[in-house]
Amino acid sequence: MSTTGILLVTGATSGFGKAIATLFASQKWNVIITGRRSERLLALKTELEQSHGVKVWMLCFDVRDEIAVNQAIAGLPDEWKNIDVLINNAGLALGKDVLQEGDSMQWITMIDTNIKGLLYVTKAVAPLLIQRKKGTIINIGSIAGKESYVGGNVYSATKFAVRWPYQKHEIGFSSTPYPCFANCAWCRRNGIQCSEVQRRSVKS
Ligand SMILES: NC(=O)c1ccc[n+]([C@@H]2O[C@H](COP(=O)([O-])OP(=O)(O)OC[C@H]3O[C@@H](n4cnc5c(N)ncnc54)[C@H](OP(=O)(O)O)[C@@H]3O)[C@@H](O)[C@H]2O)c1
Repeated sequence: MSTTGILLVTGATSGFGKAIATLFASQKWNVIITGRRSERLLALKTELEQSHGVKVWMLCFDVRDEIAVNQAIAGLPDEWKNIDVLINNAGLALGKDVLQEGDSMQWITMIDTNIKGLLYVTKAVAPLLIQRKKGTIINIGSIAGKESYVGGNVYSATKFAVRWPYQKHEIGFSSTPYPCFANCAWCRRNGIQCSEVQRRSVKS
């Protein structure tokens, strides 16, 4: 599969994720697009393939479902497993109530999607990057993860959680250091770059 590279971007059915997939496709990258809305994935696949002459693979799953995440990544054809860049973008902000009036179902949705979903996808994809000793992981955070706003309590916490690994933590699992999302020594040694999109570096 001749290509500039392979991008996997989560949450490509709208917003930033769709824009990211379109930008990479315009630069001749083949892209793996994910989301829950299959009709949107199919429309984007058709659009990108026709407009940019690239290949697009669709994965329809809910990032909150670890089994579905694992099955989707494991089920990729071999040529699509050579992922160069993972962009963890799927996420959402719900509610603007102060904490004591907050909707706990909204909290659960944000925590499960923005934190746990990101972890599941990273855990499933990181071994593919590590195997090839190269790759980049970008987590889409938010300024809300640095500076909270009134009513943004739980959303801000989830976006802070996306940032915390950048504080140079290295997570150890048994005798083998496990790749963190930070630009840690282990990641650098193994050719894995982990980044976050810095403030004002994208237009929303
Ligand atoms: N918009 C902003 O101003 C802003 C600012 C800072 C950061 N962000 C962050 O940027 C990212 C994208 O935001 P956006 O504004 O582009 O949002 P958006 O237009 O609502 O798109 C969110 C994407 O995430 C996917 N998604 C949501 N829940 C999911 C789930 N459970 N499983 C799989 N996919 C899921 C959605 O796909 P499906 O619905 O098809 O599943 C959709 O493609 C988020 O992480 C957000 O926190 C946004």
